[in-house]
Amino acid sequence: MKLISTNICKTSDIGVNDNLFGGRMLSWLDEAGGIMASQVCKSTNVITLKIDEVLFLRPVKVKEQIRIYGKLDRIGNTSISLHLEARRNCVEENTEAVVCSTKMIFVHIGEDGRPKKIKIS
Ligand SMILES: CC(C)(COP(=O)(O)OP(=O)(O)OC[C@H]1O[C@@H](n2cnc3c(N)ncnc32)[C@H](O)[C@@H]1OP(=O)(O)O)[C@@H](O)C(=O)NCCC(=O)NCCS
Repeated sequence: MKLISTNICKTSDIGVNDNLFGGRMLSWLDEAGGIMASQVCKSTNVITLKIDEVLFLRPVKVKEQIRIYGKLDRIGNTSISLHLEARRNCVEENTEAVVCSTKMIFVHIGEDGRPKKIKIS
C-alpha cells in the first residue's frame, strides 16, 4: 500500500470516551482517498461517491500519529475504487498497527459536476 498522508491526534480530535472521534477519522480517510483519487485521475475534480463498511479496530489516543495508506482496487470508466487503511505509527519502535480500514469509491467529474471519463496515459 502507498502512504498518502499522516495525521496527529490532537486534544481537539477527541470524542467523549478519550478516544479519537470517529467522524474525524472518516474525514482523514475521505481526504486521503480524495488525494489518491486525484493523483490517479490526474485531476482535482474527484468526488466521494461511496464509503463501504468502516471498521474501527483499535482506539486512537492523543499524540498518536496516524498514517493513511491506500491501494488502488479498480479503475472504471469514470470511477475508481480504493482500499484505505489507517495505521498507528509508534515512533519509538517504528512499528505500525492498523486501527481502521475501509473501501471507498470516487468519481471523476467534469465542470458540470457530472461523471467524466478517466484518462489513463
Ligand atoms: C458522484 C455522482 C456525480 C455520480 O452520479 P451518477 O448519476 O450516479 O453517475 P453514474 O450513474 O454515471 O455513475 C458514475 C460512476 O459511479 C459508479 N456508481 C454509481 N453508483 C454506484 C454504487 N452504488 N456503487 C458503486 N459504484 C457506483 C458507476 O458504476 C460509474 O462508474 P464507472 O463509470 O467507472 O462504471 C453523483 O452521485 C453525485 O454528485 N453525488 C454527490 C457526491 C458528493 O457530494 N460527495 C461528497 C460527499 S457528501
